[in-house]
Amino acid sequence: MEFIKVTEQYQPAIALIQLNRPKELNALNKQLMEEVRDTLQLLDKNEAVRVIIITGDERAFAAGADIKQMADKSAIDMLLIDQFSTWDQIRKTKKPIIAAVSGFALGGGCEFAMTCDMIIASETAKFGQPEIKIGTIPGAGGTQRLTKAVGKAKAMELILTGRFLSAEEAHFYGLVNKVVPVEMYLHEAVELAKEIAQMSPVAVQLAKEAINRSFETQLDEGLAFERKNFYLTFASADQKEGMNAFVEKRKPSFTGR
Ligand code: CAA
Repeated sequence: MEFIKVTEQYQPAIALIQLNRPKELNALNKQLMEEVRDTLQLLDKNEAVRVIIITGDERAFAAGADIKQMADKSAIDMLLIDQFSTWDQIRKTKKPIIAAVSGFALGGGCEFAMTCDMIIASETAKFGQPEIKIGTIPGAGGTQRLTKAVGKAKAMELILTGRFLSAEEAHFYGLVNKVVPVEMYLHEAVELAKEIAQMSPVAVQLAKEAINRSFETQLDEGLAFERKNFYLTFASADQKEGMNAFVEKRKPSFTGR
């Protein structure tokens, strides 16, 4: 594994996946997400593992999908690359997944954390969907999951302005389970995982499946709609301008084309 570190028995019955592209703030390139998908499939089959924790580092859980990998792509390139099909596997994982988040959880990073089942945040965590600032929209579930988590008005504000939510605000809006000091977030995630690991794994799996059913009944349709609109932004000059401006470290100038 090049972009993640996996510890199958981080604690008895608890596996840890650490995203490991620290210089790029754990930006989620295609290979990293494929490594996560393949690891989750293996951990799901490993009977010695009951709960999975996914984390980044103190500075960033993940600052989004890799903008440099996408910047010059066309809408059809994006459709054919189909990078989010790997993400679908994350939500098919049967065992519970806890995201332990410190620092930036932005764009795809926020979507990745929301795809997990629970989130433990450090006081330094910042959540947001800033895609609008680079001329595109969330493409890995943000318009659907953030809206379900925080409600329509707040989701509109966050997605249309790209503003960040502090850890405390994220807790207030029900996006995260608990906020703890930065030196405690992984420990707290492990404590939660330990408690769940003591339960019947069969009952845990069935309960998770049932909770997700209530949450996701119409999610497939929403995700497909969002994904097509995300790809469509790649037909715009504004997406090229927004992403290139990010790469070139300057302010974008949007023309509405
Ligand atoms: N993709 C690629 N590289 C990224 C990245 C991303 N999403 N986020 C950060 N990086 C890189 C930066 O380019 C920089 O690399 P260099 O040192 O080679 O220049 C490095 O990580 C450190 O980043 P900064 O110097 O920008 O750090 P900062 O502390 O000044 O700012 C930040 C941190 C506010 C998170 C800023 O990096 C930022 O705005 N990142 C982009 C956030 C974003 O727009 N995310 C959405 C991506 S699109 C998406 O996710 C679509 C989807 O729905 C799936």
